[in-house]
Amino acid sequence: MVGPRTLAVQMGHIAPDWRPPHLIAMTSTHIASRDALPDHMRILLRDYPREAWPDHPNFARSIENWMGAHSMFRQLGELCRTETERFLDGDRDFPDYAARLGHYGHLLVANLHGHHTWEDRSYFPELLAADPRFGEGLEMLEGDHVELDRVLDGFTRSANSVIQLAQLDPGQVKDHAADVHAASETIEGFLERHLADEEDLVVPILLHHKMRG
Ligand SMILES: [Fe+2]
Ligand SMILES: [Fe+2]
Repeated sequence: MVGPRTLAVQMGHIAPDWRPPHLIAMTSTHIASRDALPDHMRILLRDYPREAWPDHPNFARSIENWMGAHSMFRQLGELCRTETERFLDGDRDFPDYAARLGHYGHLLVANLHGHHTWEDRSYFPELLAADPRFGEGLEMLEGDHVELDRVLDGFTRSANSVIQLAQLDPGQVKDHAADVHAASETIEGFLERHLADEEDLVVPILLHHKMRG
């Protein structure tokens, strides 16, 4: 385990026209208001249901790897939450907790940021060119990524407060750890919705068009 470190990733990439969610009209496709991939975006999912993906001849190794990255993000989000719970419950001493939070938090933020930047710039344009029917769905996922930047920014600030405050004022650490816990729960909820919907939209396109094989 590495020693305590702050999360070095710069999270300043917020779109200039971004506004807090309470200031914009929530659409039915906004991540805060949907509970599944919207019906009209499930055209291909009906023909390629999730349970049939692993055995489909077009289910390429690259698709499996991309879904594996999603699993890693889910696990890292869970680790950030459970490690914070152990510290708050007195089952983890502070130096150990700070080292783990710095390590897992950095992996989560840096890799998620790189992953969704690559999706926006390279992967989604490729999918859109292959099947323009899914333009609205891909735009919805890009909107999720904008929200994700905000969520990760809040987590990074809370985690860095814990790590830095410990050197100055250990008495306040538990308050900030509670903020980290809340931010971790937000990330977990966000990832549960975003990653499931992203896979439900994208994998059927890849299978249908024999892409990434
Ligand atoms: Fe993704
Ligand atoms: Fe994504």
